[in-house]
Amino acid sequence: MEKIIVWYLRMSVVYFVTGAVAGFVMILWPENSGYYLKSHAHLNLLGFMSMMIYGVGYHILPRFSGKQLYSPKIMHMQFWLANTGLIGMAVSWPFADPGSTSFPLLISSAISLIAVALFAFNILKTVKSV
Ligand code: HEM
Ligand code: HEM
Repeated sequence: MEKIIVWYLRMSVVYFVTGAVAGFVMILWPENSGYYLKSHAHLNLLGFMSMMIYGVGYHILPRFSGKQLYSPKIMHMQFWLANTGLIGMAVSWPFADPGSTSFPLLISSAISLIAVALFAFNILKTVKSV
């Protein structure tokens, strides 16, 4: 398995543990859960689940479709964007005023969105039938 794919899987597991700890913190201090809820949800869903799917998808989908991955360069670039974006979101959410968007949150969300789009592009180009 390619080294970068192993890193996708490693980071996925790191976000799972971090997300679960954030969930447990909300159980311990429910009065403050509003600060952590969005970080918790996205560490688990954009971190654990999506990062696992990126890693497994990059490994398996080219093999299933009998093709080379369209762009290993995009796969590498996306790794850094996905991680920077998610960490930025998870850290800046608790500090953003409720109902408003802070500048760090806006930038990190945009980076996460670019990572999502790059994955979609790279995988769709890989599995396209012709
Ligand atoms: C040890 C594991 C976990 C603990 C202790 C935990 C704890 C919590 C708590 C206490 C809340 C509610 C906070 C509130 O409304 O005040 C919550 C919400 C949430 N959790 Fe977890 N959680 C865990 C794992 C997960 C996992 C694995 C996922 C997803 C893969 C997840 C996704 C969510 C989502 C999406 C919400 C928000 C639901 C909503 O919109 O109200 N959690 N969690
Ligand atoms: C570019 C990536 C993403 C961005 C920028 C983003 C942004 C947001 C925002 C702004 C909210 C609303 C927060 C509020 O209530 O004020 C939200 C909520 C939520 N998002 Fe995302 N999201 C992203 C990806 C995802 C993904 C991939 C999933 C699931 C696989 C997801 C699941 C959820 C859930 C379950 C909630 C409700 C959580 C809660 O109860 O507060 N998000 N997201």
